[in-house]
Amino acid sequence: MSAVRHFLDIDQLDAGTLRGILDRGSALKADWRNGERPQLFAGKTLVMIFEKPSTRTRTSFQVGMQQLGGMVVVMNEKESQLGQGETVADTARVLSRYADAIMIRTDAQTKLDDLAAYAGVPVINGLTDESHPCQIMADIMTYEEHRGSIAGRVVAWSGDGNNVANSWIHAAVKLGFTIRLACPDSLQPPADVLARAADEGGDVQIVDSARAAVDGADLVVTDTWVSMGDKNAEMRRQVLLPYQVDAALMAGAKSDALFMHCLPAHRGEEVTDEVMDGPQSVVWDEAENRLHAQKGILSWCLE
Ligand code: CP
Ligand code: NVA
Repeated sequence: MSAVRHFLDIDQLDAGTLRGILDRGSALKADWRNGERPQLFAGKTLVMIFEKPSTRTRTSFQVGMQQLGGMVVVMNEKESQLGQGETVADTARVLSRYADAIMIRTDAQTKLDDLAAYAGVPVINGLTDESHPCQIMADIMTYEEHRGSIAGRVVAWSGDGNNVANSWIHAAVKLGFTIRLACPDSLQPPADVLARAADEGGDVQIVDSARAAVDGADLVVTDTWVSMGDKNAEMRRQVLLPYQVDAALMAGAKSDALFMHCLPAHRGEEVTDEVMDGPQSVVWDEAENRLHAQKGILSWCLE
């Protein structure tokens, strides 16, 4: 690993590092609960680049930096020279002269990789078409707060084999839990992600129905049927209909199973109100934990 601590993807970090980040995030959460705000990031600046919309990622990173004494600059692609043809590499070189870390939300993973290759400061993946590692760090924190270690547990994914699903697969391999995915044939997780997980001995199971995925599961997860930038919205809604998480599907999981969704949710599509607002749902804790898990990530990157 290079001397610069990039947080690009869960599959690029070892289990000890991931555990350290989670522990750090939990400790900072405890501080926050006690009204303490250690000024860890005093004098540090995070630049955030958004090429796609965001509510949680933008706000939680900004609030997290500010609570710990840091500063934030937000750049939207269309309002910056990046959107006018300046290269990612040149942008990385320039921003590294101002900032202590750069977070980017973009489409192609190659842009993230280019940014990291040319930046002299840590780069954080705030979502690409292929992954969403900050989200899954918050999700693991949330699961473990409610139910203890995720190692050995069964996580069910019902829906699109998308960027969030990929990061769940990465986490399953690194942290030693089973992920069981039910996705339509046309929306399976990418073959390279599955092949790499298999090579590394991950317990990643592809099953042919939502019911089979949730059978005896400890956690049920889904996500939007139409991700930012996806085309063919109508086709997606049709093929994903059998993968909706409703109360009947939740009943197939363990009786104490939790429900998670990275949000934003499309109620009545991938999840019903009954599940979103029901007793097994921990989606608001999950959203809150973006703040705490990302403080752990920032702390590791800036150390
Ligand atoms: N879950 C998540 O990343 O939400 P935003 O798109 O609002 O940032
Ligand atoms: N899969 C979704 C996640 C949003 C946080 C998307 O990429 O739009």
